[in-house]
Amino acid sequence: MDHSTPDEASEILLSRYDIEQRVRKLAAEITKDYHGSTTHLVGVLKGAWIFMADLVRHMDIDLTIDFLGITSYGSNTHSSGEVKIIKDLDISIKGREVLIVEDILDTGRTLRYLEEVLSAHKPHSLRVVTLLDKRSRRIVPVKADYVGFEIADVFVVGYGLDFDQKYRQLPDIHVLRGEHSR
Ligand code: IMP
Ligand code: MG
Repeated sequence: MDHSTPDEASEILLSRYDIEQRVRKLAAEITKDYHGSTTHLVGVLKGAWIFMADLVRHMDIDLTIDFLGITSYGSNTHSSGEVKIIKDLDISIKGREVLIVEDILDTGRTLRYLEEVLSAHKPHSLRVVTLLDKRSRRIVPVKADYVGFEIADVFVVGYGLDFDQKYRQLPDIHVLRGEHSR
Protein backbone atom coordinates (compact mmCIF):
# COMPACT_ATOMS: atom_id res chain seq x y z
CA MET A 1 0.00 0.00 0.00
CA ASP A 2 1.22 3.48 -0.71
CA HIS A 3 0.28 6.67 1.03
CA SER A 4 -1.32 9.59 -0.71
CA THR A 5 1.01 12.53 -0.30
CA PRO A 6 -0.58 15.59 1.26
CA ASP A 7 -0.29 18.79 -0.80
CA GLU A 8 1.23 20.76 2.03
CA ALA A 9 3.98 18.16 2.43
CA SER A 10 4.64 17.03 -1.12
CA GLU A 11 8.38 17.69 -1.19
CA ILE A 12 10.52 14.79 -0.03
CA LEU A 13 13.67 15.82 1.81
CA LEU A 14 14.90 12.36 2.79
CA SER A 15 13.60 9.22 1.16
CA ARG A 16 12.91 5.99 3.00
CA TYR A 17 15.98 4.54 1.26
CA ASP A 18 18.28 7.37 2.44
CA ILE A 19 16.89 6.92 5.93
CA GLU A 20 17.32 3.16 5.98
CA GLN A 21 20.94 3.36 4.86
CA ARG A 22 21.78 6.02 7.43
CA VAL A 23 19.98 4.20 10.25
CA ARG A 24 21.98 1.04 9.47
CA LYS A 25 25.22 3.03 9.72
CA LEU A 26 24.20 4.66 12.99
CA ALA A 27 23.28 1.25 14.41
CA ALA A 28 26.67 -0.13 13.36
CA GLU A 29 28.50 2.77 15.03
CA ILE A 30 26.51 2.39 18.23
CA THR A 31 27.00 -1.38 18.20
CA LYS A 32 30.77 -0.86 17.98
CA ASP A 33 30.89 1.78 20.73
CA TYR A 34 28.74 -0.17 23.18
CA HIS A 35 30.27 -3.56 22.49
CA GLY A 36 30.38 -5.64 25.67
CA SER A 37 27.78 -3.69 27.60
CA THR A 38 24.00 -3.59 27.69
CA THR A 39 22.67 -0.40 26.15
CA HIS A 40 19.53 1.05 27.65
CA LEU A 41 17.69 3.05 25.02
CA VAL A 42 15.27 5.73 26.14
CA GLY A 43 12.99 6.77 23.30
CA VAL A 44 11.36 10.17 23.44
CA LEU A 45 7.69 9.90 22.54
CA LYS A 46 6.15 10.34 20.26
CA GLY A 47 8.46 11.57 17.50
CA ALA A 48 11.21 8.98 17.94
CA TRP A 49 9.09 5.82 17.86
CA ILE A 50 9.65 4.78 14.24
CA PHE A 51 13.33 5.73 14.24
CA MET A 52 13.90 3.74 17.43
CA ALA A 53 12.04 0.73 16.08
CA ASP A 54 14.27 0.66 13.01
CA LEU A 55 17.47 1.45 14.92
CA VAL A 56 17.16 -1.40 17.43
CA ARG A 57 16.55 -3.93 14.67
CA HIS A 58 19.94 -3.09 13.18
CA MET A 59 21.83 -3.11 16.48
CA ASP A 60 23.82 -6.20 17.32
CA ILE A 61 24.32 -5.93 21.09
CA ASP A 62 22.36 -6.61 24.26
CA LEU A 63 19.88 -3.84 24.83
CA THR A 64 16.86 -2.84 26.84
CA ILE A 65 14.36 -0.13 26.03
CA ASP A 66 12.14 2.35 27.79
CA PHE A 67 10.15 5.41 26.76
CA LEU A 68 9.71 8.89 28.09
CA GLY A 69 6.64 10.83 27.06
CA ILE A 70 7.04 14.57 26.87
CA THR A 71 5.05 17.48 25.66
CA SER A 72 6.31 20.96 24.99
CA TYR A 73 4.18 24.01 25.19
CA GLY A 74 3.97 26.46 22.33
CA SER A 75 2.59 26.56 18.82
CA ASN A 76 2.68 23.63 16.46
CA THR A 77 5.89 24.50 14.70
CA HIS A 78 7.73 26.40 17.42
CA SER A 79 8.45 24.76 20.73
CA SER A 80 8.57 27.14 23.66
CA GLY A 81 11.22 25.09 25.38
CA GLU A 82 8.98 24.45 28.35
CA VAL A 83 8.81 20.72 28.55
CA LYS A 84 6.61 18.53 30.71
CA ILE A 85 6.98 14.79 31.30
CA ILE A 86 3.66 13.07 30.62
CA LYS A 87 4.95 9.47 30.75
CA ASP A 88 7.78 8.71 33.10
CA LEU A 89 10.38 5.96 32.77
CA ASP A 90 9.31 2.48 33.89
CA ILE A 91 12.81 1.21 34.59
CA SER A 92 15.43 2.83 36.82
CA ILE A 93 18.40 4.13 34.80
CA LYS A 94 20.78 4.20 37.77
CA GLY A 95 24.15 2.74 36.76
CA ARG A 96 23.01 1.97 33.20
CA GLU A 97 24.53 2.88 29.85
CA VAL A 98 21.74 5.17 28.71
CA LEU A 99 21.22 6.28 25.14
CA ILE A 100 18.52 8.89 24.58
CA VAL A 101 16.80 8.41 21.21
CA GLU A 102 15.44 11.67 19.77
CA ASP A 103 13.75 12.50 16.49
CA ILE A 104 15.11 15.99 15.96
CA LEU A 105 17.21 18.62 17.70
CA ASP A 106 16.00 22.12 17.06
CA THR A 107 16.65 24.87 19.63
CA GLY A 108 18.10 22.24 21.97
CA ARG A 109 15.86 23.15 24.88
CA THR A 110 14.11 19.81 25.03
CA LEU A 111 17.35 17.89 25.07
CA ARG A 112 18.89 20.09 27.73
CA TYR A 113 15.87 19.47 29.92
CA LEU A 114 16.03 15.71 29.32
CA GLU A 115 19.75 15.58 30.05
CA GLU A 116 19.21 17.42 33.34
CA VAL A 117 16.37 15.17 34.41
CA LEU A 118 18.04 11.91 33.40
CA SER A 119 21.52 12.70 34.73
CA ALA A 120 19.95 13.36 38.16
CA HIS A 121 19.10 9.65 38.21
CA LYS A 122 22.81 8.76 38.00
CA PRO A 123 23.19 6.63 34.89
CA HIS A 124 26.70 5.23 34.35
CA SER A 125 26.79 6.99 30.99
CA LEU A 126 24.38 9.21 29.09
CA ARG A 127 24.58 9.75 25.35
CA VAL A 128 22.21 10.94 22.67
CA VAL A 129 21.31 9.76 19.20
CA THR A 130 19.11 11.98 17.06
CA LEU A 131 17.88 11.23 13.58
CA LEU A 132 17.83 14.88 12.53
CA ASP A 133 19.73 17.95 13.62
CA LYS A 134 18.81 21.54 12.71
CA ARG A 135 22.09 22.89 13.99
CA SER A 136 21.52 26.40 12.69
CA ARG A 137 18.51 26.79 14.99
CA ARG A 138 20.35 26.01 18.22
CA ILE A 139 19.75 28.35 21.15
CA VAL A 140 21.00 26.08 23.91
CA PRO A 141 24.46 24.58 23.26
CA VAL A 142 23.66 20.87 23.35
CA LYS A 143 25.14 18.23 21.06
CA ALA A 144 24.12 14.74 20.09
CA ASP A 145 26.76 11.99 20.10
CA TYR A 146 25.24 10.39 17.00
CA VAL A 147 23.43 12.36 14.28
CA GLY A 148 21.58 10.86 11.33
CA PHE A 149 21.28 13.92 9.11
CA GLU A 150 21.99 17.58 9.59
CA ILE A 151 19.16 19.48 7.88
CA ALA A 152 18.40 23.11 7.04
CA ASP A 153 15.90 25.29 8.87
CA VAL A 154 12.71 23.78 7.44
CA PHE A 155 9.79 22.10 9.18
CA VAL A 156 9.69 18.41 8.43
CA VAL A 157 7.11 15.66 8.88
CA GLY A 158 6.95 11.90 8.38
CA TYR A 159 8.87 8.89 9.72
CA GLY A 160 7.41 9.60 13.17
CA LEU A 161 7.52 13.39 13.02
CA ASP A 162 4.27 15.30 13.07
CA PHE A 163 2.60 18.57 12.38
CA ASP A 164 -0.36 18.91 14.74
CA GLN A 165 -0.20 15.10 15.28
CA LYS A 166 -0.56 14.45 11.54
CA TYR A 167 1.78 12.82 8.99
CA ARG A 168 3.71 10.60 11.42
CA GLN A 169 2.94 7.56 9.26
CA LEU A 170 4.60 8.83 6.07
CA PRO A 171 7.51 6.51 5.19
CA ASP A 172 9.70 9.36 3.88
CA ILE A 173 10.59 12.69 5.48
CA HIS A 174 8.81 15.62 3.84
CA VAL A 175 9.15 19.39 4.07
CA LEU A 176 5.99 21.06 5.29
CA ARG A 177 5.05 23.97 3.06
CA GLY A 178 2.93 27.03 3.63
CA GLU A 179 2.29 29.27 6.58
CA HIS A 180 3.24 26.56 9.08
CA SER A 181 6.80 26.33 7.95
CA ARG A 182 9.46 28.85 8.60
P1 IMP B 1 13.77 21.85 20.67
O1 IMP B 1 13.46 21.81 22.13
O2 IMP B 1 13.55 23.23 20.10
O3 IMP B 1 15.13 21.30 20.30
O4 IMP B 1 12.64 21.03 19.97
C1 IMP B 1 12.72 19.73 19.74
C2 IMP B 1 11.33 19.18 19.48
O5 IMP B 1 10.54 20.05 18.67
C3 IMP B 1 11.48 17.91 18.69
O6 IMP B 1 11.66 16.79 19.53
C4 IMP B 1 10.19 17.88 17.91
O7 IMP B 1 9.17 17.28 18.68
C5 IMP B 1 9.85 19.33 17.68
N1 IMP B 1 10.31 19.76 16.34
C6 IMP B 1 11.30 20.62 16.06
N2 IMP B 1 11.45 20.78 14.73
C7 IMP B 1 10.54 19.97 14.15
C8 IMP B 1 10.21 19.67 12.78
O8 IMP B 1 10.78 20.19 11.80
N3 IMP B 1 9.20 18.79 12.58
C9 IMP B 1 8.52 18.19 13.61
N4 IMP B 1 8.81 18.43 14.91
C10 IMP B 1 9.80 19.31 15.17
MG1 MG C 1 10.23 15.21 19.88
